[in-house]
Amino acid sequence: MRLRRYWDRQADSYDRQMAFAERRFFADTRPWLCGQAVGDALEVAIGTGLNLAHYPDGVRLTGVEWSAPMLAVARRRADDLGRQVDLQQGDARALRFADGRFDTVVCTFALCGISDERIALAELARVLRPGGLLLLADHVASSSWPVRVLQGLVDAVTVPLSGEHYRRRPLRRVRAMGFTVERHERFRLGIIERLAARKPDLTGP
Ligand SMILES: C[S@@+](CC[C@H](N)C(=O)[O-])C[C@H]1O[C@@H](n2cnc3c(N)ncnc32)[C@H](O)[C@@H]1O
Repeated sequence: MRLRRYWDRQADSYDRQMAFAERRFFADTRPWLCGQAVGDALEVAIGTGLNLAHYPDGVRLTGVEWSAPMLAVARRRADDLGRQVDLQQGDARALRFADGRFDTVVCTFALCGISDERIALAELARVLRPGGLLLLADHVASSSWPVRVLQGLVDAVTVPLSGEHYRRRPLRRVRAMGFTVERHERFRLGIIERLAARKPDLTGP
């Protein structure tokens, strides 16, 4: 609950706080990732909806976010964009959707801050249909060891303060779950990582 309240307090200033990181670090990650979404798509930990403008028109989007104030900003953004989206308050670690419900599942810059990211990733995989596409982007452990050392020092402050981890690497878990990584890019000293991975389809002939 403490972490959720932290995000509640960030809602009004989040977009401003992110503006520098968006320009300096993320490059075209939001359009790169969301442009690959198809069919029924779920975005988990949608925040203030910074990805909303980047989904193709035909995508039927559902968004889940546990902070009501963050969700309220996402709702306003969806209205401003004239974008139909089913926005729901919920926890990434216990999604209220049936197995295999979505063609695409998206999560950006949130697995770094979700406690029990393994449980969250397992939930993302569960609600994705066999053969469906998982789209992830995050800041991760750098490919440069001096930067990783620095990230460890930053973690010592941010993990207790805001639950933010700078040295996670969801890609490893995605591979361990048997997904096929179809597109993968890593840049800015390996700190930003984005990927599209296909869930195994064991239902075929
Ligand atoms: C850094 S923000 C990222 C927001 C958005 N995905 C983006 O790309 O701008 C992290 C978001 O994850 C949400 N969050 C953290 N833990 C969560 C959980 N267990 N379930 C749902 N949302 C969660 C926070 O409330 C916050 O909105």
